[in-house]
Amino acid sequence: MRIRVVGAGVMGRGIAQWAVTAGHTVELGDARRESVDEAVAFVRQMLDRAAGKGRLGRAEADDAARRLVPLDAPDAPGDGVELVIEAVLEDLAVKTELFRRLEEVLPATAVLATNTSSLPVTRIAAGLREPERLIGLHFFNPVPLMKVAEVIPGARTRPGLAEELAKTVRASGHAAVTVADTPGFLINHAGRGLVTEALALLEERAAPVEAVDRIARDVLGLRMGPFELMDLTGLDVTSKVIDTIWEGFRYSERLRPSFLTPNRVAAGLHGRKTGEGFYRYGPDAPEPAPEPPVTGDARRAVRVAGTGPHARALREALAANGAA
Ligand SMILES: NC(=O)c1ccc[n+]([C@@H]2O[C@H](COP(=O)([O-])OP(=O)(O)OC[C@H]3O[C@@H](n4cnc5c(N)ncnc54)[C@H](O)[C@@H]3O)[C@@H](O)[C@H]2O)c1
Repeated sequence: MRIRVVGAGVMGRGIAQWAVTAGHTVELGDARRESVDEAVAFVRQMLDRAAGKGRLGRAEADDAARRLVPLDAPDAPGDGVELVIEAVLEDLAVKTELFRRLEEVLPATAVLATNTSSLPVTRIAAGLREPERLIGLHFFNPVPLMKVAEVIPGARTRPGLAEELAKTVRASGHAAVTVADTPGFLINHAGRGLVTEALALLEERAAPVEAVDRIARDVLGLRMGPFELMDLTGLDVTSKVIDTIWEGFRYSERLRPSFLTPNRVAAGLHGRKTGEGFYRYGPDAPEPAPEPPVTGDARRAVRVAGTGPHARALREALAANGAA
């Protein structure tokens, strides 16, 4: 299949890598031409590394690299394009404007997919001449490793399109789940239980960030804790998702954003990308404090202080799980 990926940032380059590895030809465009060059170099490096580690044959990696076609402009004419995956700035007006342009220059049969994390698919489509062509296709970072994508039909998406797109995604090696066009879709909505709750625990000073992360890893069995995750995603990005989901659900108290995030964002404490978030990064970062040795049951090594409702709920959950 010939796919055009627009937006060559973190997500666009991951999506491009995933698609060329799966055998598709990928045109890659961005408003900044330099971003395309950087992304092409990045994808080549990733493919090389995969070949070096034996996860991909050398010839396969070279073929995949050759299937990546840099574009001078994201709205260049593209006769054979069957699917567009948009991964530009998270802004309704920017996305709508781009899709209107792509509607004009690409074949009428091309499917238009948006990788938005939090904007309603239906609203992006509402700005188009043919809203039935548009659908959500939401990947997770890093795309090649996070092997799932949400397929999100909007209110006017052509019937049957979600199944067709899910089939393409599965044939390309990722799981596909079709979900409703609700705020945060499925996975980011579910993530509020972790992220919003963790910030509420911090507001209540129930436990230091290291302890909350440790509970998430040792008790819930997650690969990383909520604060480690926010530092990876970037608090600037996460705080927008938190706000949009809260607004989308009509200011539900359950999803109320923490008062801690706007100031941290303004201070540049975004996480890994700025060198400091809930933790510090880079050569000057302090060594992580040694965690108390765990003997026997790991769940007994964590303590939750604080008297607020979130701290109480967490203590109860730990007790129910057999922790001291
Ligand atoms: N970062 C994540 O973890 C993540 C996960 C899932 C979905 N998303 C979504 O993916 C999209 C992209 O996010 P990202 O993290 O890759 O951002 P990013 O800032 O790394 O990349 C965005 C790219 O889009 C380009 N761009 C901006 N406006 C453009 C336009 N009008 N036309 C063409 N190119 C344009 C920028 O030059 C930049 O290279 C957003 O909608 C975001 O919400 C992000």
